[in-house]
Amino acid sequence: MSFQLNLNWPEFLANYWQKKPVVLKRAFPDFVDPITPDELAGLAMEPEVDSRLVSHKNGQWQASNGPFEHFDDLGETDWSLLAQAVNHWHAPSAELVRPFRVLPDWRLDDLMISFSVPGGGVGPHIDQYDVFIIQGMGRRRWRVGDKLPLKQHCPHPALLHCEPFTPIIDVEMEIGDILYIPPGFPHDGFTFETTLNYSVGFRGPNGRDLISSFADYALENDLGSEHYSDPDLTLREHPERVEVHELERLRTMMIEMINQPEDFNNWFGRFISTPRHELDVAPVEPPFEQSEVVNALLDGEVLTRLSGLRVLRVGDSVFINSEKLEMPDTQADALCHYTEITRETLGDGLQNPAVVAELTALINQGYWYFEE
Ligand code: SIN
Ligand code: CO
Repeated sequence: MSFQLNLNWPEFLANYWQKKPVVLKRAFPDFVDPITPDELAGLAMEPEVDSRLVSHKNGQWQASNGPFEHFDDLGETDWSLLAQAVNHWHAPSAELVRPFRVLPDWRLDDLMISFSVPGGGVGPHIDQYDVFIIQGMGRRRWRVGDKLPLKQHCPHPALLHCEPFTPIIDVEMEIGDILYIPPGFPHDGFTFETTLNYSVGFRGPNGRDLISSFADYALENDLGSEHYSDPDLTLREHPERVEVHELERLRTMMIEMINQPEDFNNWFGRFISTPRHELDVAPVEPPFEQSEVVNALLDGEVLTRLSGLRVLRVGDSVFINSEKLEMPDTQADALCHYTEITRETLGDGLQNPAVVAELTALINQGYWYFEE
């Protein structure tokens, strides 16, 4: 299944991306749900899949995390089942993120799918990521408020709601419609029907996560072993003070560590190619021989990239799932750019034993696979 998305990207980026919410009517003109509610429920029973059930009764909210053993006592109304990173686990659903590959790969987070029965929803809330909410089966009313400071509270320890807001968008979404919401705009989905929603999410890292990850990298790689030194120290009137020029020197010490381009790129490549959700990865048993890989590609077989695997170029290097790839640029770029690899995309790579060895290792790790 492939999805045709009608979206004027230049206009969207100029006017809406990270700026304001918008409804894109019939953006997927021939939308067909890639998953059934039963299949979604099946995924929510798997321990590897992040899932949540959210329900409410007489104004009391409930939330619980999967995996779920059964869905017997849920009743007909007022609940939603949500599963994260379905693109990692369900190939037909993964097709839905493809049309968004106009946006940078490194900004993509995952595809979340929600199933709601009449009255179901997670309640009014604010997210810190950009989301394209696609309407699948059923219709759902979505309200989006302006990006204003709103009080937040937890009606249940696992739920963060915001106070009621005045909608700037109030729409009944129909199949194939998209609601785009940038970070910080409160929103709430409500339904009178049984409905599926697909959220393609994009998340930017925050400063806290960057600093903490860089600190881990510095520890692992023994960066910054030099100590503060002050051979120019003179007698001072106030020994109790840390002087401004000393603070400045300390700050410079820290900034200089981040300013080394090689370390910075090396760290960021690892950081940003690490998926936030588990991958459906399994080493190949028995492993492929290099000659089998070469022959399969020469026979015209296609290598498909594991869905959700992050393959990114950062500076001079390509990173795959937190590791640096050792491969000549042409082949490294092909692995980044194409989600399907053939002998053609590899150029003369099959004649290079180092490329073949590395490619075989990637296949045996389960990162690329030959379609059956
Ligand atoms: C949902 O699909 O019910 C929740 C999506 C969201 O609000 O982020
Ligand atoms: Co949301």
